[in-house]
Amino acid sequence: MMGIPQCRIRHYLFLLFYLPFIWLSSSSYSLQAESFLECFNSTSYYYSPQSIPISKVVFTSKSSALFSSLLQSSIKNLRFLNTSLQKPLFLVTPFHQSHVQSAIVCANKKGLQIRVRSGGHDYEGISYVSSDQSQFILLDFINFRSIDIDMKTETAIVEAGATLGELYYRIAEKSPIHGFPAGSCPTVGMGGHVGGGGFGTLFRKYGLAADNVIDAKIVDVNGRIMDRNSMGEDLFWAIRGGGGASFGVILSWKLKLVYVPSNVTVFVVQKTLEQGAIHLFQKWQRIAHKLHEDLFLHVTMGVIDEQNKTPNMSSKTILISFVSLFLGRIERLIPLMNSHFPELGLERNNCTEMSWIQSVLFFAGISIETPPKVLLKRPPTSKMLFFKAKSDFVISPIPQIGFEGLWTKMLEEEASYLILTPYGGKMRQISDFDTPFPHRKGNIFGIQYMVTWENANETYRHLSWIREVYDYMEPYVSKHPRAAYLNYRDLDLGRNCGRNTSYEEAKVWGLKYYKSNFDRLVRVKTKVDPLNFFWNEQSIPTSVYHS
Ligand SMILES: Cc1cc2nc3c(=O)[nH]c(=O)nc-3n(C[C@H](O)[C@H](O)[C@H](O)COP(=O)(O)OP(=O)(O)OC[C@H]3O[C@@H](n4cnc5c(N)ncnc54)[C@H](O)[C@@H]3O)c2cc1C
Ligand SMILES: *[C@@H]1O[C@H](CO)[C@@H](O)[C@H](O)[C@H]1NC(C)=O
Ligand SMILES: *[C@@H]1O[C@H](CO)[C@@H](O)[C@H](O)[C@H]1NC(C)=O
Ligand SMILES: *[C@@H]1O[C@H](CO)[C@@H](O)[C@H](O)[C@H]1NC(C)=O
Ligand SMILES: *[C@@H]1O[C@H](CO)[C@@H](O)[C@H](O)[C@H]1NC(C)=O
Ligand SMILES: *[C@@H]1O[C@H](CO)[C@@H](O)[C@H](O)[C@H]1NC(C)=O
Ligand SMILES: *[C@@H]1O[C@H](CO)[C@@H](O)[C@H](O)[C@H]1NC(C)=O
Ligand SMILES: *[C@@H]1O[C@H](CO)[C@@H](O)[C@H](O)[C@H]1NC(C)=O
Repeated sequence: MMGIPQCRIRHYLFLLFYLPFIWLSSSSYSLQAESFLECFNSTSYYYSPQSIPISKVVFTSKSSALFSSLLQSSIKNLRFLNTSLQKPLFLVTPFHQSHVQSAIVCANKKGLQIRVRSGGHDYEGISYVSSDQSQFILLDFINFRSIDIDMKTETAIVEAGATLGELYYRIAEKSPIHGFPAGSCPTVGMGGHVGGGGFGTLFRKYGLAADNVIDAKIVDVNGRIMDRNSMGEDLFWAIRGGGGASFGVILSWKLKLVYVPSNVTVFVVQKTLEQGAIHLFQKWQRIAHKLHEDLFLHVTMGVIDEQNKTPNMSSKTILISFVSLFLGRIERLIPLMNSHFPELGLERNNCTEMSWIQSVLFFAGISIETPPKVLLKRPPTSKMLFFKAKSDFVISPIPQIGFEGLWTKMLEEEASYLILTPYGGKMRQISDFDTPFPHRKGNIFGIQYMVTWENANETYRHLSWIREVYDYMEPYVSKHPRAAYLNYRDLDLGRNCGRNTSYEEAKVWGLKYYKSNFDRLVRVKTKVDPLNFFWNEQSIPTSVYHS
């Protein structure tokens, strides 16, 4: 926590000293802009198919009306739709890999920074917002999203801008018995998700999205395109859970598809605290990670107004939902549940059999009767909220008193939500060092805390609330380090104050996300991007600063 106030102070000093410089640099805006454009248009890499003029690839805040709508198109959190945030100098939407090469080479040459956005779901918006004073280019993969499924080899080549929903749909279109183990939210982008790990309802059987990558294409700081063979095993290791953005720009992933049965089963059991949820939840903590790997049984907790009570404060309670995907039919599920979790009282008619793609709809909160084509849609941003989330890993069951305090805090907040995801299964069989994602054996479940709100003027209150909850939970969760999930990015854990981040500073949050894999990530970073061109608020530092 010490890193944050320090960081603010440093920024403040920086502003005071360099104010005249910033003024100067903003008045030379058009010069820098022109020079980037000229470079982009004329690098030896640049190749533009006739049908795609440069005006469809590069947008500037000064000259294009499309700029704002493009910039906002994949923002998921109202916190980062703030007009006072620094905007990119250019938005580049590659159609061709040469556009990515040109953008990198020219940004580097002109002293501009770069941000890369695929699905835009980053919890701290760092794929399109920069806290640094330097101008930056935003490379947005909105038009770079082809998916090529090869049923002969049971593989898929997926470009970074494709969404999970698009991938799931394209697989199901080809086969009712194949799937891919990645997250539940269909609009999440492949570029960020796979680079940060990526888990969902299949992960107890098949591991993370990153565990099922067999090749990748990346553009490095010099504009070179590399695949697994040419990048080498160290870099290939780093981008599968270490966050791609520290090392280069991911163009595409080659994925191994996995088997799913043609009938899967879904059930939901909901109980309030008053209806005996506590006792069921205590049992869940002890068994969920030990269940058969075909059985994913996660828990969500939220606040509801309990029915049949007066609409007074005291009528608010916690609703605990046990939500499950079983990779098999009801007749096999019932005996499994009866022998391991009879307390839940699951019966046949509480369960629904469906195809795997329908289960994707179900976990996305879409009716299973909806044609799966809905997964290709990018929903409008009209229902956007402000939100903040944090994560924890749990090593041993949390005593009831721990949760009672947490529920009390949740009842004080209007819109808070927890998701508890059981580990075990395949996740405990994969070594902590296979990929940079180290949260494997020994974890019984992960927690995601989330709070949402609707008015900008409440931001401070809700951020304070979730930070208090996080402090409160400390005694009950993993320690040394208190681990966190990279894809639930949290800048409260610490941040790089500038490009000259020291190893020691970054280690504070680096150990939380990567544990002892952090050092190997630093070595890879130092080798592939020694001058730290690919910098962001939580990028991997180089081990030595080169000025
Ligand atoms: C509503 C919602 C639901 C979610 N559900 C899940 C879930 O079920 N399981 C889960 O594991 N996670 C989940 N997440 C977290 C999600 O996996 C991460 O936010 C992920 O990083 C998003 O990827 P993106 O491409 O959409 O995001 P972006 O914001 O585009 O990118 C995220 C990070 O990756 C970098 N990046 C993006 N594209 C590239 C590229 N082509 N090359 C190099 N770096 C790149 C960005 O610069 C940024 O640092 C969810 C998030 C949200 C908002
Ligand atoms: C890009 O280069 C082409 C050919 O050299 C030129 O005709 C065009 O005007 C340039 N476009 C921009 C935006 O600089
Ligand atoms: C709500 O609670 C207050 C005091 O706790 C009580 O006086 C009031 O009657 C309650 N309202 C209803 C509708 O029950
Ligand atoms: C299962 O369904 C029956 C009948 O609809 C219902 O009474 C029971 O509460 C359900 N059980 C669970 C665990 O939800
Ligand atoms: C179950 O699988 C069969 C055979 O593959 C299929 O025809 C049927 O539609 C599936 N049932 C459901 C509910 O998806
Ligand atoms: C935008 O940021 C400013 C400065 O941090 C803040 O005062 C304002 O409330 C923010 N607006 C929104 C809509 O979040
Ligand atoms: C906060 O904003 C909302 C809507 O923008 C407004 O209704 C409310 O009065 C504001 N509250 C405060 C304390 O300013
Ligand atoms: C970067 O950090 C190193 C070591 O802390 C220091 O020696 C150097 O002066 C710093 N450079 C800049 C530009 O801040």
